[in-house]
Amino acid sequence: MSVELKKRAAARALEFVEPGMRLGLGTGSTADEFVRLLAEKVAAGFDVIGVPTSERTAALASSLGIRLATLDQLPELDLTIDGADEIGPQLALIKGGGGALLREKIVAAASARMVVIADATKVVDPIGAFPLPIEVNPFGLASTRGKVIAAGADLGLAGEVKLRLKTDGAPFVTDGGHFILDASFRRIPDPMSLSRALFEIPGVVEHGLFLGLATAAVVAGADRIDVLTP
Ligand code: A5P
Repeated sequence: MSVELKKRAAARALEFVEPGMRLGLGTGSTADEFVRLLAEKVAAGFDVIGVPTSERTAALASSLGIRLATLDQLPELDLTIDGADEIGPQLALIKGGGGALLREKIVAAASARMVVIADATKVVDPIGAFPLPIEVNPFGLASTRGKVIAAGADLGLAGEVKLRLKTDGAPFVTDGGHFILDASFRRIPDPMSLSRALFEIPGVVEHGLFLGLATAAVVAGADRIDVLTP
């Protein structure tokens, strides 16, 4: 996705933001573009307060002068703006490519509205080509991984389920201290059933299927911007 398309989606999403709003700030390169544009408005006197979905976004937003709070200080938010890895039918999302899915989902669920920003290549049917991030407790990793594979198989989903590693070969660790399994199921025609099955597994902390959370998606293409609703 070109930076230009990310900026265009972010700029359109900024139109949803009103003065005084309590805003969830997403994570990822597209969400970063939104934070940068928001910071320009804030510098010009626009008053909002942000709740970041990751340490990374917190660092960027505060370095640019956006006032921040924790979700405990502001448990109810007006709007969250965040990116996505895939956007499917009914705005079912796959998120977590950047590893921030747990906080992203908690913040989105605390928001009256969630607007997703992305380029047109991320709109797919069905979802699943992007490996599904599943956040797991490090304790009992091998057992949990086996149960994830079995849960997929029960639903007719097969594919590699790999522990996410950093470039140095050590496991990627989330802001919450957990590991991530990336499940390459390729096609997930029934995301709700998979969501339920994954939550039956004790070691699964969260997964990157965001169902019924997005209220709109701003999708930037080469020559148009669409605002999709569920
Ligand atoms: C972060 O954990 C993810 O959910 C991101 O929102 C997602 O990976 C999109 O990132 P990009 O905007 O960088 O594609």
